[in-house]
Amino acid sequence: MIHYAGARHSRSTAAFCLLILINIPIDCCHGPRVHGTDIDVKAAAVLHNLPASAQPDAREMSAAKVDLGRSLFYDRILSLDYSLSCGSCHRQQMAFSDGNTVSRGVDNEVGYRNAPTIINASVMQSLAWDGGSVTLEQQILKAIVNPVELNLDTLQLVRRLRDHGRYAEGFRAAFAEKSAISAANAASAIASFVRTISSANSPFDRYKRGDSAALSPAARHGQALFFSARTNCVACHSGFNFSDDQFHNTGLFFRYEDRGRFYVSEDYKDEAKFKTPTLRNIAHTAPYMHNGSKASLDEVLAHYNSGGVYHRNKDSLIKPLNLSPAEISDLKEFLLALSDDEVLHNPNYADPNKQ
Ligand code: HEC
Ligand code: HEC
Repeated sequence: MIHYAGARHSRSTAAFCLLILINIPIDCCHGPRVHGTDIDVKAAAVLHNLPASAQPDAREMSAAKVDLGRSLFYDRILSLDYSLSCGSCHRQQMAFSDGNTVSRGVDNEVGYRNAPTIINASVMQSLAWDGGSVTLEQQILKAIVNPVELNLDTLQLVRRLRDHGRYAEGFRAAFAEKSAISAANAASAIASFVRTISSANSPFDRYKRGDSAALSPAARHGQALFFSARTNCVACHSGFNFSDDQFHNTGLFFRYEDRGRFYVSEDYKDEAKFKTPTLRNIAHTAPYMHNGSKASLDEVLAHYNSGGVYHRNKDSLIKPLNLSPAEISDLKEFLLALSDDEVLHNPNYADPNKQ
């Protein structure tokens, strides 16, 4: 066991492993098994009802790495002025978003984008609104050094981690290397923790698994609308995580301040296009859009129903929908049924120092 975050932390890790063990009989003969201290991601996935396609890569995961990553995720020594941690902008009770239009970093520096949820990030093919990071590790290092986020350079990071004696053992346990404390290993551990943050137990999931009472008649009507050619929502919000992992312009503005995907591709056809966000846990992640410009789901739905404003890159699927107020209300019921409240209270995702 690792002690850098205190005995309480170790207890919760033990509880997580135990939950996994309890779950094994569900798929006893060809499935999950626990190997030493390795987290059995398949077992964890069964526990969270994740489909096979959404399971994190087992090679990235071990209990020691996840434990270390979780402590780092909530540690403010990762920010220049010790004021913020990852958990300040990705707050569990807000489904790992922060409730602000755009985030504020150290020194209250105003960022330029809305903090998206990080739930199910392990299935995202690219990260950030412009897909500028291909791996979680990359996104995490960027958050650490970004002047409007944690604003700490990697040398300072390593110095601080070395100075905090409590991390020496955690890094040694997670990485079988002599000088295990490095920025890359810190990012790798945090990424392992983030990969465990998953959610697939919303009323919609329960309905799909056969619990016909999980969705109200209104939500079921909204579901039919969502998946219909009339709204085309599912053309972009597709698959397990309700995202096609592609970039689109949805006609929010005539002039965008943020050039979105263009920053990555430098192709004018990508100007003002943004990654399709997941719709899971959307009840808890207001305000919406890359810049938080829509305060509520009502505003989002009013936007789609109107077809948005002209933009030369606007997707042809974004056009007036002529939905009635009752249809909009049902569509909203469906969106609300994509939220999984377990994820807000799962003790394995919480700040280990506050339990
Ligand atoms: C100051 C607030 C802030 C802090 C601190 C912060 N983030 Fe973020 N995070 C954001 C914002 C804003 C974005 C969107 C960035 C973009 O699109 O350019 C983001 C994006 C992400 C994403 C991609 C999600 C997606 O849907 O593409 C992940 C994963 C993530 N952050 C994890 C972390 C981790 C781990 C840390 C700690 C090392 C961290 N963040 C620190 C605000 C923050
Ligand atoms: C052409 C692809 C496309 C279609 C069709 C589409 N969306 Fe979106 N959706 C996106 C993109 C891209 C964004 C982010 C846009 C931005 O921030 O600039 C988004 C954002 C959202 C958001 C805000 C999510 C958040 O976390 O900020 C919601 C809610 C949403 N869409 C619901 C719907 C619904 C409901 C429909 C059908 C009426 C729909 N979308 C149709 C691509 C699409």
